[in-house]
Amino acid sequence: MGAVVLMAAQAQEEVVREIVEEVELMARNQGQMEVMVEQTPVQEGVEDQEIQAQLGVQVDQALSSLNTNIKITDCLVIDNFYSPKEQKDIWEELDYHLDSFYLDKKGCAQDGDIPLANLSRIYLDEIYRNNRADSNILTHYSKILSKRNLEKYAEITPSGRTLEVTNIDWSQVSYYEDGNNYAEHFDQFMHSCLIWFFREPKKFTGGNLTFTETGEVVTCKHNRMLLFPSYLMHKVDTVNMVEKDLGQGLGRYCLTHFFSRK
Ligand SMILES: [Fe+2]
Repeated sequence: MGAVVLMAAQAQEEVVREIVEEVELMARNQGQMEVMVEQTPVQEGVEDQEIQAQLGVQVDQALSSLNTNIKITDCLVIDNFYSPKEQKDIWEELDYHLDSFYLDKKGCAQDGDIPLANLSRIYLDEIYRNNRADSNILTHYSKILSKRNLEKYAEITPSGRTLEVTNIDWSQVSYYEDGNNYAEHFDQFMHSCLIWFFREPKKFTGGNLTFTETGEVVTCKHNRMLLFPSYLMHKVDTVNMVEKDLGQGLGRYCLTHFFSRK
């Protein structure tokens, strides 16, 4: 059991109520937790927008505190990574691009000439080259590098120190349906961030990630974020789906962000 405390301004009762409901839902999904709201007086001269922004930060912190404590060597795992509002925005974008995913044999890791991945992809940096702000994913992903996450990551792995000095990133979404997988490989960047999305109830089996050098398996859960040094060897086991569920976006999405320094 744990508690989430939200400091809420009195003037924003409607916003506070929505936030509490949001956090309570997340808490129930995790089978835990009470939610406490502490009301604080609104400071004079503070604009509504500022209050909303502050509350937004508090919600993020509250939701992060609901994370499970999965211990994976050198890897930061955060469950319930995106808030319900952010998830809604991201689903909107994924649904919009559903027909744009294509089988990509060249953009993945290779063994000689043999592609190690069997999956479909879209490359967000290409799609939104001139209008990044139009992408909900490319808007929300900045929270990956929050101060709190950087600190937590650096506690988990000494390599984490170098995430803070990265200054370039690449973003893509991979989509796995029946028979898709990704054989053992490492990513040719400094740090890798994966965020898994799928429609619930889950319509596939498999799709879990294994860090092959330690044998640690990370179960594919919706809205679970993994951040790890790209040199760690990893693989994704085969996704299995029944025929009636194919072609509808009911498989396994992996929002992928790579960070490096140029
Ligand atoms: Fe990878």
